[in-house]
Amino acid sequence: MQIPHSRLRFGKPFEQAAQQVIQSGFLAQGDVTTALTQTLQAQLSGQAVLAVDSGTSALMLAIRALSKGKKHPRVGIPAYACASLLFAVKNAGGIPVLMDCNANLTLDAKQARNTAKDLDVLVLVHPFGMIEPLVAEHFDCPVIEDIAQSAGAIWHEKAVGTFADVCIGSFYATKPWGGAYGGFISSKDEFLIKSITKMTNPDHAELQQDYVGHHQLSNIHAALAQVRLDHAVAEQQQRQIWAAKYDKILVNYTSVTPITGIQGNTFRYIIRSEKTAEDMIQILQQLGINAMRPVQQPLHHAISDANCPQADEAWQYCVSLPLLHDMNEQEFSLLQQGLATCFKP
Ligand SMILES: Cc1ncc(COP(=O)(O)O)c(C=O)c1O
Repeated sequence: MQIPHSRLRFGKPFEQAAQQVIQSGFLAQGDVTTALTQTLQAQLSGQAVLAVDSGTSALMLAIRALSKGKKHPRVGIPAYACASLLFAVKNAGGIPVLMDCNANLTLDAKQARNTAKDLDVLVLVHPFGMIEPLVAEHFDCPVIEDIAQSAGAIWHEKAVGTFADVCIGSFYATKPWGGAYGGFISSKDEFLIKSITKMTNPDHAELQQDYVGHHQLSNIHAALAQVRLDHAVAEQQQRQIWAAKYDKILVNYTSVTPITGIQGNTFRYIIRSEKTAEDMIQILQQLGINAMRPVQQPLHHAISDANCPQADEAWQYCVSLPLLHDMNEQEFSLLQQGLATCFKP
């Protein structure tokens, strides 16, 4: 038996949604994309929404729009995060400024507040299904709230994605709102969303514009994301049930602790141990459990003089366990066995 790190089962509703689009003959951007943006608008307290081709594009476009004509804006991003963030900043012509994490894998708040004083744009990521509490604070520079991994979470009775100036998200398959590929940008500022829309279609662009690319979301991708969104709450509830079971197992082992930030949508289950991530992954994978590092590499390694010791430590000692909404009892006992093999004294 193999337990994958994430699993998408494309059943009947996905087949039907894709088939309907194919039969309509309109595969590129159209009515289904518009319907998806309306669903998102309802989820995000009525903000203006633009669907785009990926979360990385969403971030790159938002940075361009917020950096107010600066050719090389200084953009703050977390060091312990997905590489897409680094490339979005570079693709926007920006200078990435890396910020370290704390033990909960959210940002080191004091350092982030200090760093933000010298930024043109700050990207705050709700990481791994948790909440980044800094979104509730005021910063002098514009803030982008990244909900790619924590989509659907509510904090202080507000949907995540409605705290900052601009929100971005992803419809990549493994994400909580994932279909196949795609992303979105939202904001209370309709004018900003209109100005970003102008960057997404070369066929309708003014030739003087600095940047335009093909960044529209197709009907076919929108249809898949829409079906996933329809199932997102149920999936989140199932993950919560499994996560509570994992909690119960782990209290038995003193050498390992789950990461306990503010829980958002229970997207990932991350543990920190005295064992190295490499050792844990090897032991679990030998049993067929596809545990992974939460991030492939800390992003400050791309910058020669950047120093983020907590991100390095998280990379050394943190592992993401498979947390599947449709896990079965057999898979759960294998996971239980794997944790015992890894952590029993
Ligand atoms: C936090 C975060 N933001 C943005 C992205 C980029 O999204 P996409 O894969 O749709 O480009 C990712 C992707 O892994 C992510 O984890």
